[in-house]
Amino acid sequence: MEETKTFLSRRHFLTKGSTAVGALGLAMSAGSLLVPRDAQAALLTFPQPAALDVERVRDLGYYWYKKGPGCGHGAARALIQGFSEACTAQGLDPLGWNDVPRNLYAWCNGGGPSNWGVLCGSIAGAVGVMNLIGRQGDIGQKVFEWYVKQNFPSANLDDLAIGFDGSANGNGGHGASATGPLTTAQMPIPSAEHKGQAISDSPLCHVSVSKWMAAAGVYHGQTDPVTGKDYRGDRCGKVTADTAAYAAEQYNLWKATATLPGSWQKPSAMGSCFECHDVGGTAGVTNKSSATKMDCLPCHTEPVTGRK
Ligand code: HEC
Ligand code: HEC
Repeated sequence: MEETKTFLSRRHFLTKGSTAVGALGLAMSAGSLLVPRDAQAALLTFPQPAALDVERVRDLGYYWYKKGPGCGHGAARALIQGFSEACTAQGLDPLGWNDVPRNLYAWCNGGGPSNWGVLCGSIAGAVGVMNLIGRQGDIGQKVFEWYVKQNFPSANLDDLAIGFDGSANGNGGHGASATGPLTTAQMPIPSAEHKGQAISDSPLCHVSVSKWMAAAGVYHGQTDPVTGKDYRGDRCGKVTADTAAYAAEQYNLWKATATLPGSWQKPSAMGSCFECHDVGGTAGVTNKSSATKMDCLPCHTEPVTGRK
């Protein structure tokens, strides 16, 4: 089963049909980037390998967070590259995985353009890639549900090899390229030395990052005086790695068992609020005023009026 999306594929556009190439030459020599209307539109296809290498995706997520940099970029790129590599390893042509821009979700670094701090980019990037195979509503949904309950950062990057270089197969497709191994300052802080952990209870970048900062007692820009490692960047790099890896793990489960993740489980504390107010609630209240699976209580604390 393959999910296809209609895109104008640059590769196909340039290789198929001299008319189109001629027209492009004309358009470019006229100093215009306009693509001729009748240029051949190709179907971009995203083949589905039997399994992804979850630990490879995790390492790539961390690598591209550091080299990109950024969480949206890192999570999406790790998965796109992971799909491409798994296809090749399993004798499939990666096709669309090598055509789609590798930096497609860099716009969500910092939770949206220029640090808007809204949706955590690691979620946006991971779910965005699941969308390419039509799995945003189940695997993607699960990524959100999982993320908000994680005590970040994990110890999962402790075994990242010194000198890890994810760029070997990493610069296919469009988008910024990078080369070279992680520097000493870019290597993960061993989990035994991390500054603190926090459960975000929210998919929002601002809540996730700032709650962690409060728990860890660090500020943006603070670095380890000896190694030069950026405390906050270390935490967000690990979040990116683990979120991409979790999506890969759910993909593998689906491929191995033909079973998709179960539907969303409402946190018990938000049960009554959700039932009365939310468009997804079941109570017979007609003036529904909310539509969110985010836990209400970190923002609204009063059980009766809902006011904080
Ligand atoms: C990230 C924080 C956040 C979360 C999570 C959240 N809300 Fe809100 N909500 C707000 C803010 C901010 C407003 C606007 C408040 C205002 O300006 O009066 C609002 C407004 C509302 C209003 C309208 C308030 C009014 O004055 O009439 C309702 C009802 C509401 N939220 C219910 C919910 C419910 C139910 C949930 C959970 C299912 C929820 N909210 C989750 C932040 C949040
Ligand atoms: C039994 C149904 C019910 C439950 C349970 C409920 N609400 Fe409400 N809530 C209402 C009604 C009715 C109003 C007033 C009309 C309106 O604004 O929709 C209201 C008002 C609000 C408002 C806006 C205005 C205000 O006066 O504060 C917010 C925000 C809110 N509720 C959030 C919550 C949250 C959060 C919870 C759970 C902790 C919750 N509600 C539980 C029915 C309910």
